[in-house]
Amino acid sequence: MNVGIDLISFQTAQYFLDLRTLAQTRGVDPEKYYQGLGQEKMAVPPPDEDSVTLGASAARVLVDQVGAQDIELLLFGTESGVDQSKSAGLFVHGLLNLPRRCRVIELKEACYAGTAGLQLALAMVRLAPQKKALVICADVARYDLGSPGEPTQGCGAVALLISAQPRLLAVDAEAGFHAENVMDFWRPNYRTEALVDGKYSTLVYLSTLVQTWRQYREFTGRKLTDLARCCFHLPFTRMAEKAYIRLCREEKIPEPAAEEIRHILGPSLVYNRQTGNTYAASLYEGLAALLDNDPQDLGDRRISLFSYGSGCMAEFFSGIVQPGYRQYLMADRHREMLAGRTELTYRQYEDIFRYQVPEDDGDHVFAPYRTGYYRLQGIKKHVRCYQSIA
Ligand code: COA
Repeated sequence: MNVGIDLISFQTAQYFLDLRTLAQTRGVDPEKYYQGLGQEKMAVPPPDEDSVTLGASAARVLVDQVGAQDIELLLFGTESGVDQSKSAGLFVHGLLNLPRRCRVIELKEACYAGTAGLQLALAMVRLAPQKKALVICADVARYDLGSPGEPTQGCGAVALLISAQPRLLAVDAEAGFHAENVMDFWRPNYRTEALVDGKYSTLVYLSTLVQTWRQYREFTGRKLTDLARCCFHLPFTRMAEKAYIRLCREEKIPEPAAEEIRHILGPSLVYNRQTGNTYAASLYEGLAALLDNDPQDLGDRRISLFSYGSGCMAEFFSGIVQPGYRQYLMADRHREMLAGRTELTYRQYEDIFRYQVPEDDGDHVFAPYRTGYYRLQGIKKHVRCYQSIA
């Protein structure tokens, strides 16, 4: 029985900063960001947007299509949750009126959390094929102003509907995975910005890629050339190029020409270039971009996914794109959302960045900005109050 991704939906903030504007302010050549990192814009969440509103908006599109009645599991993967105790998934559960007979949990392991959710959801559906699971990956990526990580910031969410006989991607059972205690990126409880040893994190990313690929190759007997396309975790899109070249080197095949890299990776990078890092959502934002934008019909072709979460946890796995998948994509919605965003000046970006959520026990009502279907209306006596706006 095939199990996998039945529908996929992506959401990002309605505001962005062009990295040319950031480069000008920081006195950096814009090509360092555009070419060197492969990033053009970063999505900036206004004060009434957070991982809950982004995740709920992404998931709403799926629930509107298939109904909520069979959803028995909601896994919310994030490192930017809104409460130390309560799952962000429970806010979404309420906003979407999901069934009370539903298991709802928040998962954390940096950018890997969504993949943990996906694998757990697949396991549930294998046991109960008539049931569905909702996996939401949502994050706001923040680094210190002026730090090397700043131009890779972003925010976004991806919702995956997991089912038997999926319409988009049947996920293969075999995977290579790897855990190791390293300090390449972390965020202590008292900080709102991540700490990162950026160069080291790219090295660990690549070494765990090789470890997990070797396992995957051993279990499946597959070669790199058996994979029609490769999706990678995208802290910045140039990382995918480094990753693919590393796999070619491992397989002792000649370094790919620019045209081959564009063919294998290009469509999967389209959205991330426009949003910046979306941490847990980033790999699946890349998957949505690939399915939405690849000029070739990928039906019946095998694609790979590499998930990396600092700290660290990594996984290499694959799936078969399902024939006829194109009619179930949300491509138009995704493109319109990205095209309709509002550009910020540097001053507006910094003001939003410096905005601090009130921490006292007063009644705070937030000014309305542009958001998706949901917004954070206010915080009253430490309770976050979300509002449906459509
Ligand atoms: N034109 C074109 N390219 C340029 C350039 C210019 N004017 N100036 C620099 N570059 C290139 C560099 O050569 C480099 O490319 P390379 O990696 O192929 O050598 C790239 O731009 C980045 O430059 P670098 O000097 O390495 O950037 P940095 O020291 O400011 O930081 C990161 C880069 C990735 C370490 C930093 O953005 C970071 O910490 N990011 C967050 C952590 C992260 O994303 N980790 C990844 C694993 S999850």
